[in-house]
Amino acid sequence: MATKITWLGHSAFKIDTGAHTLLIDPFITGNPLAPVKADDLHTDFILLTHGHGDHVGDTVSIAKRTNATVIGNFEVAGWIAKQGVKKVSQQNTGGTGNYDFGSVKLTIAFHSSSMPDGSYGGQPNGLLITLKSGLKIYHSGDTAFFSDFQLIGEAGIDVAMLPIGDFFTMGPEECVRAVRLVRPHYVLPTHYNTFPPIVQDAAEWANMVTRRTEAAAIVLDPGGSHDF
Ligand code: NI
Ligand code: MN
Repeated sequence: MATKITWLGHSAFKIDTGAHTLLIDPFITGNPLAPVKADDLHTDFILLTHGHGDHVGDTVSIAKRTNATVIGNFEVAGWIAKQGVKKVSQQNTGGTGNYDFGSVKLTIAFHSSSMPDGSYGGQPNGLLITLKSGLKIYHSGDTAFFSDFQLIGEAGIDVAMLPIGDFFTMGPEECVRAVRLVRPHYVLPTHYNTFPPIVQDAAEWANMVTRRTEAAAIVLDPGGSHDF
């Protein structure tokens, strides 16, 4: 069956494979554009890119309620475990973990990472997810533009999620340059419109993607989904 990807606003996505549900960076409570309540989300796994509050979000409460496994870098997943979450997987940059749904490699990202209480969050990451179906999904996390997008793209990316918000991450123009290096079949914009400093015109970004790259831009409304 197709894999359904739903945008939950900001950097948060829900991935339904048919057999498993994954959440990425579930920042729901406090997100003015969140289309759901954290208490209504059900999941088997939660994947975290870094420690900032707009990414860790509701991870602890969702994981405790659903008994989901939380996957992140050593410091982020360790901090989640200290909050009382039973099942965590503490990977680190460059390493791949194998799970029931497929695998996750933590890639480099250029950003910072501290936990909501200010403790050290390790290095920020992107996520290279390979589902059992073969679908390859790359979520870059929060990052600046960097030339190694080219190397990450060598994996053969089907779906990329990349930030366009600017201010905290790369903006629309550099995101288009990133698409040219990652070379995904489909690209979804993230990390924009949530707060005033990151308001962007996603339709204009999508036009640039169409004009200047081989990728198909998919702009979802919060709560919107697409089958891949
Ligand atoms: Ni961040
Ligand atoms: Mn962020």
